Amino acid sequence: MRWVSLLGAIGVLGSVHGAGTPVVIWHGMGDSCCRPTSMGRIQELIENGTQPGTYVHSLMIGDNTLDDTINTFLKPVNEQVQEVCDYVAQDPALADGYHAIGFSQGGQFLRAVAQRCPSPPIKNLVTLGAQHQGVYGFPRCPGESVELCNLMRELLNYGAYTDLVQDILVQAQYWHDPLHFETYVEKSQFIGEINNEGPVKNLTYAENMAKLEKFVLIKFAEDRTVEPVESQFFEFYQPGSEYDILPLRESPIYTEDRVGLKALDLAGKLEFLTIEGSDHMQIPTQWFMDNVVANFLQ
Ligand SMILES: *[C@@H]1O[C@H](CO)[C@@H](O)[C@H](O)[C@H]1NC(C)=O
Ligand SMILES: *[C@@H]1O[C@H](CO)[C@@H](O)[C@H](O)[C@H]1NC(C)=O
Repeated sequence: MRWVSLLGAIGVLGSVHGAGTPVVIWHGMGDSCCRPTSMGRIQELIENGTQPGTYVHSLMIGDNTLDDTINTFLKPVNEQVQEVCDYVAQDPALADGYHAIGFSQGGQFLRAVAQRCPSPPIKNLVTLGAQHQGVYGFPRCPGESVELCNLMRELLNYGAYTDLVQDILVQAQYWHDPLHFETYVEKSQFIGEINNEGPVKNLTYAENMAKLEKFVLIKFAEDRTVEPVESQFFEFYQPGSEYDILPLRESPIYTEDRVGLKALDLAGKLEFLTIEGSDHMQIPTQWFMDNVVANFLQ
């Protein structure tokens, strides 16, 4: 009996200290770290589907959940990314590396963390419904943030690439206008930079990305919130067209390996998953547990 309970105690300690790889979550636009119907639930699903005691941290940008939500529209992306880089560097629970999972715009923001801040390392990076090539249209806005959405639309209409709007609006910083390609390359404060579109390429970006163990891209097949849907797989309109999508493996971001996609692909570390029949952020629970948590967050 004494042995059994002793082994039990060791087991519990083991599961705390030897628990699975920690997981960091970054929420999307108009959302916050911890709403029970949104990221709170996702966090619980990940906790339920990983080894007992696995550390799961849902990022809050700012001092409280209201700030966190407003910041999804108004805190410059590069500052948000730096804030997360600082956080991951100082949380001792992440020191040996972590898995990262980003939802919608949180997906491309976490990719920026992987490109700019390789220490501690991200092991598996999973993005669901991210806009890796930016967006050229917001047909709909996710719930609960109607006023912020309207403000966003007005600012984008005023001029996504004006300095004023670039400086204040998150969504302008990943606005990708294929009809004004050169302006986009020159002015985009975030997505153009992180996708290495400028004349001088930052080779560190591809090097850091190639260190991932897996990069998993998940697309909502029936996404009606962001355009084009293909951005979730790094595909986008050909410059000069707002209809024709350039296949990934013919796109300069891939052929020139500007962000490590080709290296990852050739090493069998790039995965593409599609959630058929799903609109933006409609994630079937069992599908998520089987295909994401069990496969990539252990
Ligand atoms: C997580 O597991 C607990 C215990 O089995 C369960 O009560 C809870 O509903 C699960 N959470 C989610 C979000 O499914
Ligand atoms: C490239 O990116 C890294 C990581 O963000 C940065 O430290 C470095 O200064 C950049 N190099 C150039 C030439 O911009």
